[in-house]
Amino acid sequence: MESSRYLKITGGTPLHGSIRIQGSKNAALPVVAAGLLLGQGQTLTCTNVPLLRDTETMAALLRELGMTVTFENGTVTVTRNGELSCEMPAVQVQKMRASSIVLGPLLAQQGRAVMPMPGGCTIGARPIDLHLKGLAKMGAQIELHHGAVYATAEKLRGCRIYLDFPSVGATENLVMAAALAEGETIIENAAREPEITNLVQALQAMGADVVFKKDNQGIIQVNGKPELASGTVKIVPDRIAACTYLLAGAITNGEVTVTDVMPQHFDSLLAKLEEAEVGYLRQEDRVTVYPSRDRMKSLSVKTMPYPGFPTDVQPQLMAALCLAHGTSVVKESIFESRFQHVPELRKMGAEIDIQGNTAVIRGVEALNGSDVQATDLRAGAALALAGLAAEGETRVHGLKHILRGYEDFDKALTSLGAHVSIEEGESIA
Ligand code: EPZ
Repeated sequence: MESSRYLKITGGTPLHGSIRIQGSKNAALPVVAAGLLLGQGQTLTCTNVPLLRDTETMAALLRELGMTVTFENGTVTVTRNGELSCEMPAVQVQKMRASSIVLGPLLAQQGRAVMPMPGGCTIGARPIDLHLKGLAKMGAQIELHHGAVYATAEKLRGCRIYLDFPSVGATENLVMAAALAEGETIIENAAREPEITNLVQALQAMGADVVFKKDNQGIIQVNGKPELASGTVKIVPDRIAACTYLLAGAITNGEVTVTDVMPQHFDSLLAKLEEAEVGYLRQEDRVTVYPSRDRMKSLSVKTMPYPGFPTDVQPQLMAALCLAHGTSVVKESIFESRFQHVPELRKMGAEIDIQGNTAVIRGVEALNGSDVQATDLRAGAALALAGLAAEGETRVHGLKHILRGYEDFDKALTSLGAHVSIEEGESIA
């Protein structure tokens, strides 16, 4: 039986205290990948990078392609020294779907790129058709065979691209490819997430000519350059981690402050907390949730592209709604199967019905500790939050999923007064 580490949680303690929020995983991954666009001998320096399995995987991937990468004390440097390989290493790509955003910059730099098709995962098929359609429109020849993408382009040409869906990854791949393409590229219906803005900042720091048109985050204009030069960029705070810890405070009816955050990046959650009558104080770089006399109120929420309610906070909010007063409705409109946490929450006594992409949650008085299985990092975080509020002991198996996205997750919760520890045990999957 494969041994696997799990999170042991003894629930029932209201959390109390403050926690500094890590840099954003989903900003750090594309920003570090942008280092592939550098000219010889140039270096991209990224600060406030969270130390996670996924950021280490991205660093390893770039090293295997031939970049020189250092990662110390939250700072990553990426330097172009000599020739690069065009073949993305399967081991790293299979570990992390987000490797797909290496395709655009690698193709733009090398004129050729080979990428093992990234698998789907538990939240959906995760196709990359929009990425490939955009690169093809820029003049790339794209072939799919033997489970890999073979892309070639003498020189990518700027053009107008309309994204059928504001895909985060497609926007990132195409902006990076456009940075070295010939001429002007306009990307319309682009993703507007803060992670995109952070990537644009990084590209500008490297001398790329990329702007949001007329202050409209959904239209990005790029004029390609022959190569990019050294620059420095700070990774924005992780808005999803901030929401996760605020909801840990709310679900345990405690008082939790998240610091070093940009509250404007998660006003959608704050609006929902207000609707649920969870008290909070929003300041310049920190937000505090407060305990309330009554249980939080039920809600109706639908996940949407930014600035709508983020799909990456849907499981965590659902965990809190299991204990709300009344019946809530959660619609997941971004991924086709992002309710893997529901059967696990039911094991803890939650009353949730699923109809298609809609979950109906009837609030209960209490949840009971149980053995539950994390299937992806946000579902794992949701189960941990439920365990913090549940009576008795919860063991969240599949801890590796959580550690992909949350730096020192157990220590962070312990610092807020939670009774949490990492244990070795037999996996239940
Ligand atoms: C990014 O994934 C994030 N990952 C995800 O966070 C996040 O949930 C997602 O954006 C949406 O906000 C990273 O940034 C590393 P999409 P991405 O392309 O880029 C469909 C987490 O927990 N689609 O915006 O893969 C797709 O199937 C992770 O940190 C196509 O159909 O998301 C999905 O239904 C999970 N064709 C929807 O669009 C395409 O070519 C959104 O995908 C691309 C996407």
